Amino acid sequence: MVRTEFIATGMYVPERVVTNQELEGYMDTSDEWIRQRSGIEERRWAAEDEGGSDMAKVATERALEAAGMEADEIDCIVLATISPDHFFPGTGVFLQRKLGVTGVPCLDIRNQCTGFLYGLEVADAFIKTGQYRRILLVGTEVHSSGIILSTEGRDTAVLFGDGAGVAILGPTEEDGRGVLGVRTHADGQHAEKLWAPAPACVNKPFITKAMIDEGLTRPFMEGRDVFKHAVTKMPAALNEVLEIGGFSIEDLDMVIPHQANMRIAQAVAKGLGLTDDKMYINIQRYGNTTAASIPIALHECVQEGAIQRGDLVGFTAFGSGFTWGGALVRW
Ligand code: ACO
Repeated sequence: MVRTEFIATGMYVPERVVTNQELEGYMDTSDEWIRQRSGIEERRWAAEDEGGSDMAKVATERALEAAGMEADEIDCIVLATISPDHFFPGTGVFLQRKLGVTGVPCLDIRNQCTGFLYGLEVADAFIKTGQYRRILLVGTEVHSSGIILSTEGRDTAVLFGDGAGVAILGPTEEDGRGVLGVRTHADGQHAEKLWAPAPACVNKPFITKAMIDEGLTRPFMEGRDVFKHAVTKMPAALNEVLEIGGFSIEDLDMVIPHQANMRIAQAVAKGLGLTDDKMYINIQRYGNTTAASIPIALHECVQEGAIQRGDLVGFTAFGSGFTWGGALVRW
């Protein structure tokens, strides 16, 4: 039986470290408020001319090196982002060009914090059907250009950070190994509970000076509602994929959640009865990097040896849309 395995992972975060103390200089906030509410201590911000495809390129080169592969061995790119380099075309083609490859398909995924798992579901199906053999799966975000550095935008400005994470996926026939299940969900009833109202093609023109002046391009969030849904949907998504394989929580060696907020991760762990050493959290250092958060956390986990070959690894995410999902992998 053919399953999808993770051949290699890679990550890149910009050099610039932005501490909570630095944010205190731009808006009415405090290190204490940010740490208590989110667990975040610092995040990275991309350089002026650094886009999501630039960051993904470096992360990809690192993964290719780890895999002992060349870029032209990749036969499909699946890229998740909510902060595209440009309105169109998708960021995947810019990454493809920067990697120096042509011809292979580039599929952009717009599913926010669940983007990497939506991408994994698609890539897994492609590989299992034999459509493609080497898929580059990317999560990359530049949030620093979309947040508003004022007290008006503080509820979201303090949470988000920039970075990219990638995985190179391919087929394996090794018994029991690989992706055992991926499930994704959405409920558009809640679309406006975490969103950026502009630019908006439902308006003509899709962007106006008034929209910019009103700050409508920044993220808006009903934080408490997001919290409430995340702490129920994330455990449910994990349980759903465990059930597919006939596993239970006790069988898991590691859970990599979307790094939304430390308090959300802690509530999810508590709800599932997971001990701290079985949930990987790095939000302290990077903030919420949306589609990039799971692949960045995965890469660090692998680098630190916190995931070993044969381990059962769970993934769970929740985000804007609302969207949510889970995945289970025998590493
Ligand atoms: N610094 C200081 N004060 C702030 C800040 C800030 N950055 N942001 C908001 N406040 C103020 C509010 O204005 C409010 O002031 P008021 O009482 O005078 O009106 C006060 O803090 C409390 O605001 P609440 O929104 O009620 O704060 P709450 O305790 O709910 O915490 C938070 C807000 C952290 C966003 C919380 O709702 C939460 O954890 N939500 C989960 C959402 C989340 O983490 N999203 C991440 C992105 S989405 C995702 O990845 C799934």
